[in-house]
Amino acid sequence: MTCFMDHRDLSRATATGYLFLLLLFSSFINIWSSCSNGSCQVVDSCCHSTDCGPGLFCGNCPALGKTQPFCIRGQATIPTSVIGGLPFNKYSWLVTHNSFSIVGAPALPGVQRFTFYNQEDTVTNQLKNGVRGLMLDMYDFNGDIWLCHSFRGQCFNFTAFQPAINTLREVEAFLSKNPSEIVTIIIEDYVHTPKGLTKLFKNAGLDKYWFPVSKMPKKGEDWPTVTEMVKANHRLLVFTSVASKEEEEGIAYQWKYLLENEAGDPGVKPGSCPNRKESQPFNSKTASLFLMNYFPTYPVEDEACKEHSARLADRIRTCYKAAGKH
Ligand SMILES: *[C@@H]1O[C@H](CO)[C@@H](O)[C@H](O)[C@H]1NC(C)=O
Repeated sequence: MTCFMDHRDLSRATATGYLFLLLLFSSFINIWSSCSNGSCQVVDSCCHSTDCGPGLFCGNCPALGKTQPFCIRGQATIPTSVIGGLPFNKYSWLVTHNSFSIVGAPALPGVQRFTFYNQEDTVTNQLKNGVRGLMLDMYDFNGDIWLCHSFRGQCFNFTAFQPAINTLREVEAFLSKNPSEIVTIIIEDYVHTPKGLTKLFKNAGLDKYWFPVSKMPKKGEDWPTVTEMVKANHRLLVFTSVASKEEEEGIAYQWKYLLENEAGDPGVKPGSCPNRKESQPFNSKTASLFLMNYFPTYPVEDEACKEHSARLADRIRTCYKAAGKH
């Protein structure tokens, strides 16, 4: 499809009597466009978002050498809509890394923020678009718990985003509006305030959805089915990177339950999928969830589209093999 003219311009052309021009152009369009009006599929050429089917938008990716817009998936297929009732670990859930580090998020008054941005959508829109896991970095800051994209285990006013409760309330709103959805939160945890996280999740109204640690599989068994989880209202899984909080606060220690490959550049190297240092080796039989990281260390907004589709699929195949599945 060649996007040389807007369809609406064509109708305006009729009105003003350029009938010949219209016929010429519409036959042109018939030749060049194999689809329109919502019938275009992923990677089909398009002119307007209305050309593309549900869950798709009309965009471009110059970083891939593309010069024409094409249909790109903007909404993930919810895996339970394809097949329901399986154990939680039998599905693939879309997770965002540094879900809170959002382009355009306001900084503290009078402060220039100094950090990398990983996301374009608000957390609410991430969830609407099919994201079911959020990776959040939490710190003690300003007498509260904040989301910060920081270093040395400390939040600074120039790495701070916002109080964590704001984002957790977005999650609460989503869970209460969508009674059969399940969300996972993975915390890179720098919170030292005793019971700080417990209070935070309670204040956000999320304690009622809490999946109890006691019910998490400890020997690599299957998780409960999504049906059982929804029925029990155990629709929020929370993991912390601090081992002692499992005993102290009943918050599951991430690497007891999740195997994870290297994050950042080591995790995008073609042909290999090494485990993250903190993770158990992939031949471990005690964890039944696998978290696949796939993003370069330094996010570049205009380049991110390169990683979709083929490269992501290739990464999945590599990690699947590395995890001992053939
Ligand atoms: C940011 O933090 C630094 C050091 O803690 C402090 O000196 C500075 O006044 C703060 N800036 C603002 C605008 O709050």
